[in-house]
Amino acid sequence: MQERLLELKQEALDQVEASRDLKTLNDIRVSFLGKKGPITEVLKGMGKLPAEERPIVGEVANKVREAISNAIEGKQATLEKAEVEKKLASQKIDVTLPGRPVRKGSKHPLTAIIQEIEDLFIGMGYTIAEGPEVEKDYYNFEALNLPKGHPARDMQDSFYITEETLLRTQTSPMQVRTMEKHEGRGPIKIICPGKVYRRDNDDATHSHQFTQIEGLVVDENIRMSDLKGTLKVFAQKLFGEDREIRLRPSFFPFTEPSVEMDISCKICNGKGCNVCKGTGWIEILGAGMVHPNVLEMAGFDSKKYTGFAFGMGPERIAMLKYGIEDIRNFYINDRRFIEQFRRA
Ligand code: DAH
Repeated sequence: MQERLLELKQEALDQVEASRDLKTLNDIRVSFLGKKGPITEVLKGMGKLPAEERPIVGEVANKVREAISNAIEGKQATLEKAEVEKKLASQKIDVTLPGRPVRKGSKHPLTAIIQEIEDLFIGMGYTIAEGPEVEKDYYNFEALNLPKGHPARDMQDSFYITEETLLRTQTSPMQVRTMEKHEGRGPIKIICPGKVYRRDNDDATHSHQFTQIEGLVVDENIRMSDLKGTLKVFAQKLFGEDREIRLRPSFFPFTEPSVEMDISCKICNGKGCNVCKGTGWIEILGAGMVHPNVLEMAGFDSKKYTGFAFGMGPERIAMLKYGIEDIRNFYINDRRFIEQFRRA
């Protein structure tokens, strides 16, 4: 019996030695050490041995098992290591190869100018508010002092969805939405950038979809001089410290008084050229003191609170700043156009 065990041991060790992969090695483990293996088989016959021989055979059997098991473990480690090395060799990376250049994207000029304007106002303590592009007639017109049938509605040809909803024609409805949220309590100091829509035929200066940035400040004792000072800082930060601003009287239903702001033309330094159409000034935005009706409709006491508002078109501002002649350039995504603004 002992002899048989030693034979089995030798057989197993030879097979382990000869094995070339982990699968074969595992088969060897199962066939020699498993419950149905030859060693177990031999041990089953132990009962027939004289009692004094049993412990001796038992000891031999244990040693044989241990030897086989150790051999398998040792071989397994070697095979695993070899496998990893093989993998490493086959997947070798040449770290000295030059890298493939990654083409860097850049901001769209419109995004860039909007973010620049946002940063400017954030620097003056404003926060950013955003609202829906599909808007209620009430917010887009009525609550801005433009009741149904008001002739000034014609200035903004609209895409109606139903009688009461439309694609917003301006970002001004965010004034009302913001005031409503404040439930009659100031202060409010926000800008609202976003897309707006009008039923215009697209040409060099019109687009049926464009962007606006709205501004609103409401508090006690807000005066026209606050508006003027704010706009001056804004214009000079964006267009250069040497720019002058002027306010011209204008009309918007939601502000009283209403103004339009011009900046001095940099190209001719105020002498008059074709960019400023000979006037020396370029129109930048509309603004004014929030109409008491608008404050009241949004739940603010117009005796206690006053405010100013302004609205501008980032396309127009970018066109002036970068000398872009056709508004459609912003939307057709011609890379020859867009890529000129990589660093802008
Ligand atoms: N919403 C106006 C427009 O689209 C622009 C505007 C003018 C906004 C004066 C204002 C403002 O907030 O006070 O033409």
